[in-house]
Amino acid sequence: MDATPIWIAGSPEHGGEVLTVTHPYDGSEVGSTTHATPEQVERAVSAAAAVAAEAAALPVHVRAAALDHVSRTLADRHEEVARLITAENGKPITWARAEVGRAVGTFRWAAEETRRFDATTQDLGADAAMAGRLAVTRRFPRGPVLGISPFNFPLNLVAHKVAPAIAVGAPIVLKPAPATPLSALLLGEILAETGLPDGMFSVFCVPNEQAPALVADERLPVVSFTGSVPVGWSIADAVPRKRVTLELGGNAAVLVCADWSSEEDLDWAATRVATFSNYQAGQSCIAVQRVYAHASVYEELAARVVEKAAALRDGDPAEEDVVVGPLINAEAAKRVEEWVNEAVAAGGRVLTGGKRYGASFEPTVLADVPASAKVVADEVFGPVCVVASVDSLDEGLAAINDSRFGLQAGIFTHDTATAFRAHRELDVGGVIIGDVPSFRADQMPYGGARDSGTGREGLRSAMDDYTEARVLVLRT
Ligand code: SIN
Repeated sequence: MDATPIWIAGSPEHGGEVLTVTHPYDGSEVGSTTHATPEQVERAVSAAAAVAAEAAALPVHVRAAALDHVSRTLADRHEEVARLITAENGKPITWARAEVGRAVGTFRWAAEETRRFDATTQDLGADAAMAGRLAVTRRFPRGPVLGISPFNFPLNLVAHKVAPAIAVGAPIVLKPAPATPLSALLLGEILAETGLPDGMFSVFCVPNEQAPALVADERLPVVSFTGSVPVGWSIADAVPRKRVTLELGGNAAVLVCADWSSEEDLDWAATRVATFSNYQAGQSCIAVQRVYAHASVYEELAARVVEKAAALRDGDPAEEDVVVGPLINAEAAKRVEEWVNEAVAAGGRVLTGGKRYGASFEPTVLADVPASAKVVADEVFGPVCVVASVDSLDEGLAAINDSRFGLQAGIFTHDTATAFRAHRELDVGGVIIGDVPSFRADQMPYGGARDSGTGREGLRSAMDDYTEARVLVLRT
C-alpha cells in the first residue's frame, strides 16, 4: 500500500519516518503516511508566513468559493470519506456518515460567515468633541494558524480549524492526530483543488518531540488545539503571548428535573442519555458521563437508561446496525476498565456492562459511585455513565458545577425559569435544555470554562479568535 502523501505548502509530498494507521476494531492496516521531516516543516511554516499578506487580501468571493468547493466535494464523496473515518477511527459507519454531514455543513457555514464578516461603523459624533468623525472597524487575521486536532472527530474537528482560517484569509498549518491522519490528508487533497495560493495550507504529522518547536514558532501566532487537558494547558503556558484556543476535556452532566416526569419525557431523556454516553464509544468531550435525576424520577429514569444502554448493539463498526464501536486502541479500553474497577471497589454498582473485550468496552451504567471516583471526577472518554439521585434543583445544579471541567451541560426541564437559572449559574460553555450536553450545532459557539479550555469554536467565534479588530477613523 502506498503511503498517503502529506501536504506541504499546498503540494503532496512524502516525508521521512512511516506512520502506519491501524483499524481500532481488528488491528488491520488501514493505510500509512509519513512524518514531515524538519526541512518540510520549515518549508510549510515559512510558506505560511510568506503568503500571509496575500491570503489576508484574498477577496471574499475567492475564500467563499474555496470553502463551498470543499463542502460540495465532501458531499459528493460522502460515503468514501465516511468509510475512511470508520476505518481509521473505529467509529460506527452511521456516526461516520453523520460526521461527514457535519463537515459539509462546517465548510458551508464558513463560506456563509465569510460573506457577512463585514466592517462595522460608529458615528463618533455622538460625542460633541468627536463630531465629524466616523470609526470603521474591520477584523484582520492575526497571522498563520497552527491547528492541532484530535482523533475522535478526524474530519469535523479538522474542519473546525481549517474552515475559519480560510474564511478570514489566514494560512493554516495543521497537525492531525497520529492515530487518524488519513481523513485530514484527504481534506488536503480537496483543499488542493481550490486554487488557494501555495502556502495557504499544510497538513502533516510530526513526531511528538518536534511538536513543541512548532507550537513555539513565532511565525504561527495563533494556536488552535483540541485534545487532552494537560497538553492543552502546557501549550497555553509555553506561549503566553500567542492567541491560543483550547478545546479540552469534560465530564459532561445531565440533570433531569422533577417536572420532566411523563412517560414520554423519561423515555426521551433515557434514549438520549443512553445514546450519547455511548456514541463513538464515549469518545467525545461532550459525551454524557454524569446523570443526575430528581429523586421523584430517578428510579424510572435509571431503569430506562439501563434498558436502552444494554440494547445498543456493539461490534464491528462497519456494520450498519452497530452503534457502539471500539475505543481508539486497547490501551484506552484498559484504562476505562481500570476506572470502572476502581469505582466498583469504592462501592459503585454496575447496572449494565462493565466488561472489556480487546479495544471495546460494553455500554456501561454505574450507580452509587462516590464523587471522588475517576469515572465521576475525571473524563472517562469511554462508554460509561454514572447515575445519581438529587433532592432538589439546587443540589442538581451544584452537582453539575462540582467539577474541574465546564464544557456543556444538559437540563431536562419544561420550566423556562429553570432554563434561565441554569444558564446563569452553570459554569460551562453551553447549556442545552430538553436534551443532552452532547448536542452541538457546528455554527454555534462551542468551548469550555475552567479546565475544559478557553476560546470558542463555531465558525464565527473561531473567525473572531483568528483575527484582531483594527479601527479606521475618518473625518467625514
Ligand atoms: C469534542 O469532542 O470536543 C467535539 C464534540 C462535537 O463536535 O460534537
